[in-house]
Amino acid sequence: IANEPTLNYPPGSREQEELMAAVEELGSKTHHVPLIINGKEVRTGNVSEQRNPGQKSQVLCTYENAGPAEIEQAIEGSLIAKSKWEAMPIYDRQAIFLRAADLLAGKHRYKVMASAMLGQGKNIWQAEIDAATEAVDFLRFNVKYADEIYKVQPPCNAKNQWNRVEYRPLEGFVYAVSPFNFTAIGVNLAAAPALMGNAVLWKPSNGAVLSNYLANEVMREAGVPDGVIQFVPGDAVEMTKQVFAHPEFASLHFTGSTHVFKQMWKQIAQNIDVYKSYPRIVGETGGKNYHLVHPSADVASAVNNTIRGAFEFQGQKCSACSRLYVPESLWPAFREQLVRGVESIKQGPVSDPTNFMGPVINQAAFDKITNYIEYARNDEHCEIIAGGKYSDAEGFYIRPTVIETRDPLTKTMKEEIFGPVLTAYVYPDADFDKTIDLVGATTPYGLTGAIFAQDRQAVAHASARLLHTAGNFYVNDKCTGAVVGQQPFGGSRASGTNDKPGSANLLHRFLSPRSVKETM
Ligand code: SER
Repeated sequence: IANEPTLNYPPGSREQEELMAAVEELGSKTHHVPLIINGKEVRTGNVSEQRNPGQKSQVLCTYENAGPAEIEQAIEGSLIAKSKWEAMPIYDRQAIFLRAADLLAGKHRYKVMASAMLGQGKNIWQAEIDAATEAVDFLRFNVKYADEIYKVQPPCNAKNQWNRVEYRPLEGFVYAVSPFNFTAIGVNLAAAPALMGNAVLWKPSNGAVLSNYLANEVMREAGVPDGVIQFVPGDAVEMTKQVFAHPEFASLHFTGSTHVFKQMWKQIAQNIDVYKSYPRIVGETGGKNYHLVHPSADVASAVNNTIRGAFEFQGQKCSACSRLYVPESLWPAFREQLVRGVESIKQGPVSDPTNFMGPVINQAAFDKITNYIEYARNDEHCEIIAGGKYSDAEGFYIRPTVIETRDPLTKTMKEEIFGPVLTAYVYPDADFDKTIDLVGATTPYGLTGAIFAQDRQAVAHASARLLHTAGNFYVNDKCTGAVVGQQPFGGSRASGTNDKPGSANLLHRFLSPRSVKETM
């Protein structure tokens, strides 16, 4: 098994032409997205809109919101569908998801990418590494990891005994709640538990309904049976309350904010007496990820990686770099290259392939991010050294912004912003050790981080001291862009349960093994 190769889309290439034709086609009308319950399109009459964040007058799709009756129907239907699905041999379930991977990488590649470009403001390459490759890799690698799981059996059988472990799916249904920023994450939140024989209620983010719907249609075309993945957009708060009150609720599979995940965990705890089984709570949440630069670092490479880590997809990755620590000795050169690089970033609609950055997802995100910029503008310890401008006249555009601070504990060093804002702290070279401790103590998160150094001892030292600050730790590379099958992804502390999507570990969370001892 190999990673799906990424295409390069050079100007004038057939792949770029086909993709841009798909973007034009998709954007030429307003689509309508129904709920999919038991394989049927369901309309509720309660309709919302998903707009193009780069051109907010454009309604990309309208979608139905599931209400209490539809949620009840979806849960009941999923339990019925599950009884057949879990009895199906794993090979057949694997074949379905392998076929889905091929359809997503092939026949439907450009359509799903186009929906992530227009719906989430991704440029070609950000859409490519999401919908066209990471989603495909999740589907294929899960199949491989599932193989390994089922093979593992007790190593020892006493005389006249035959011991074995049966890998049962969970009893009940899985609730998958996905974020706007990665189609791949939505696909995996639904597909990973489904592959292991579970039935799933999938609530997509309101900011990604169309791309998630199209990805779900691909899985249906590949043969996921009716009722196994129920596609139910809607109001998160109401839906979640109803789902968590159901006795058959077996697992939450979540990616989103730390705040929401904690609220959900508390709600589940309050309902604990209602459930048949202790629910499996699996979540990937926020981050406040760092690049730590050592005096021995290669400046040009660290700058280049920092620009990509902080500003690709407008910084809207849970893994995005948003705090930077640079030694005084390197800062003049570092600052000069960073500011020059950031100011030259081309930004605008994703329909122009020369744009490196697009818009942020919506008005709420725009307001939140620009509030942080204004905070820095008015803070005596902070100086905006690049960017700082924004406009929501046509779409939600925020220039990539770099803040230099003299206070390493200023708000923008501590809080997750989830946008194109990077804060840099310049430390005295002699204080490298103190700075390592500062990196670990500044935020409650533990998702990703990177050290840039040529000095191998400094790398080893920082790596050991920063053990729990990042579930994905990088040496001389940006802290984003984990590849399925290469760097299993996820963090601990306030960043999640670190169950590592893209590994066998995640699949285990959706199984409840039974040990069988047979005396011969
Ligand atoms: N897995 C992505 C990354 O590593 C973030 O979700 O950037």
